[in-house]
Amino acid sequence: PPADALDLRAHIVDLPDHPEPGVIFRDITPVLAHPEALASAVDQLTALTAELGVERVIAAEARGFLLGPALARELGAGFLLARKPGKLPRETIAVSYELEYGTDHLEVHADLLPPGTRVLVHDDLLATGGTAGALCSLVERLGGEVVACSFLVELGFLGGRAALAPHDVHALVRYDS
Ligand code: PRP
Ligand code: MG
Repeated sequence: PPADALDLRAHIVDLPDHPEPGVIFRDITPVLAHPEALASAVDQLTALTAELGVERVIAAEARGFLLGPALARELGAGFLLARKPGKLPRETIAVSYELEYGTDHLEVHADLLPPGTRVLVHDDLLATGGTAGALCSLVERLGGEVVACSFLVELGFLGGRAALAPHDVHALVRYDS
């Protein structure tokens, strides 16, 4: 990151025992609310991925949409939406992935990713890697190339980085507990 990069950790609020006892929720809404923090988050994400030749950024509803389009704009790339089932009107391809309790699904418009396109997978937060991993497999099924995955926050104790291997993982703020 740039030498004068703002410390984003100072703008992330911990909520102990949310949504259940023993879990600390990391709230990034103060980063978005603070003008300099928001700009610095986008700038730092851009700096980490600027040399990768990214042509599209893909991100999942809902929180992937917070910074994904701004990052795509900075990288000179396009933005692809992965949405919950039934939201996209044209032909889609879908992926299912496991959550702690149950299964979730995402869809993307099938015609927006030409084969060979260089894609950055982005999300606000990396936990188990289930969401980002599902995006990686969607991209690869469409013939795209995942060049890296980038996150504002990494919960390092949940194993997401290993789950996404062999893809490179970049995160601005990492928590180890
Ligand atoms: C959160 C977060 C990531 C995902 C990370 O999304 O925004 O997308 O969890 O967890 P994982 O690495 O274990 O997949 P959530 O599913 O809560 O939905 P939202 O973005 O719509 O709030
Ligand atoms: Mg999410």
